[in-house]
Amino acid sequence: MSLTIYRKAHFNAAHRLYREEWSDDRNLEVFGKCSNPNFHGHNYELEVGLTGTIDPETGYLIDLKLLKDIIREEVEEPFDHKNLNVEVPEFANLNPTVENIAIVIYNKLRQRLDPGFKLTVKLYETPRNFVVYTGD
Ligand code: NI
Repeated sequence: MSLTIYRKAHFNAAHRLYREEWSDDRNLEVFGKCSNPNFHGHNYELEVGLTGTIDPETGYLIDLKLLKDIIREEVEEPFDHKNLNVEVPEFANLNPTVENIAIVIYNKLRQRLDPGFKLTVKLYETPRNFVVYTGD
């Protein structure tokens, strides 16, 4: 029997989507308002799911305090109130789209978690725009 447990988290961050070799006009055409040269912010909402089996001794799939601490260390502390393009090394040469941010978060969390768990990262950039990444 397997089930999935979730922990929600939140961070605010600024970004700009652009390609340096493109003109501002072309960037605006492709990336819209997210290409604003002076950056802008989003309120990112994160849902981290772990699928596995329950430990019969504790009744836990994972101690949620442990998952909370890992998310804080790997996501909230490095990303919250940061300019992703400028201050987060993973995005020095990677466009901080919601897709790429979800993959970066997945890879950071994956290396901290027991490989026996299936990991699901759901990341909302706005209440209506979000991605789900499961490592496939
Ligand atoms: Ni944006």
